[in-house]
Amino acid sequence: MTIDEELLRRYPRTEGLRVNFVTSLDGAAAVDGLSTGLSSAADKQVFRLLRMTCDALLVGAGTLRDEDYRPLTLDPERRAWRLASGLSAYPRLVIFTHALALDPEHRALRDAPVRPLIVTPAEPGDHPLTEVADVLVADLAEAVARLHAEGLTHLLCEGGPTLLGALAGADLVDELCLTLSPVLAGPGATRMTDGRPHPPRTMRLIHAIPADQALLLRYRRAHD
Ligand SMILES: NC(=O)c1ccc[n+]([C@@H]2O[C@H](COP(=O)([O-])OP(=O)(O)OC[C@H]3O[C@@H](n4cnc5c(N)ncnc54)[C@H](OP(=O)(O)O)[C@@H]3O)[C@@H](O)[C@H]2O)c1
Repeated sequence: MTIDEELLRRYPRTEGLRVNFVTSLDGAAAVDGLSTGLSSAADKQVFRLLRMTCDALLVGAGTLRDEDYRPLTLDPERRAWRLASGLSAYPRLVIFTHALALDPEHRALRDAPVRPLIVTPAEPGDHPLTEVADVLVADLAEAVARLHAEGLTHLLCEGGPTLLGALAGADLVDELCLTLSPVLAGPGATRMTDGRPHPPRTMRLIHAIPADQALLLRYRRAHD
């Protein structure tokens, strides 16, 4: 991939918790259980760029399982950009789970270039996952505070809906990068937030970039 300097200027490295999502025009976050059917070349470019600029990539266990995540090995160009920017070569993968129902042999864990961190609310004991990842017993706010304290201050969350619902509920979402795809997915599809209702969080628009038939939206929390 070639790094698009203009796109980088529109999505600068920003402190706090940034969320990246793609949805259909009628609000679906998945088609046939995956986000792939909603993505496009422009969306993928943003996706890769946001991964390149973050310190840690936060993801719910459901997304890791459903979307069959790969290890976070960025291509040489993005690794070079990170090193030239004074960052580590790779962002750290941070996975949120209650049930610890992840396969330690999952390629995103087994082949991770940096030891991943698993965040869970209860002590895991000698769970097999402790062989492939560090474990932090924490809720969402504690986990974000801990990552910040460790110098991982530019956080990217790629969902999914349950994790995003919980993050928004805890008022931890500082930024939302949303690709609106030119698709009507139809009734019954997954929305981009799930879980318990929470008070509305008002955001302000930073940009709206048309890209082919899609729209690349960037919002920040309103009181920034
Ligand atoms: N359109 C997009 O941009 C996009 C992005 C991501 C995902 N998706 C789609 O979303 C669907 C998956 O949805 P999902 O809601 O299952 O995804 P998810 O939020 O990634 O996964 C839910 C799971 O994450 C863990 N989790 C969530 N909140 C947690 C918290 N506060 N503390 C600890 N663990 C927590 C739990 O894992 P355990 O079950 O292990 O306890 C929970 O069952 C898939 O169809 C995927 O394709 C779409």
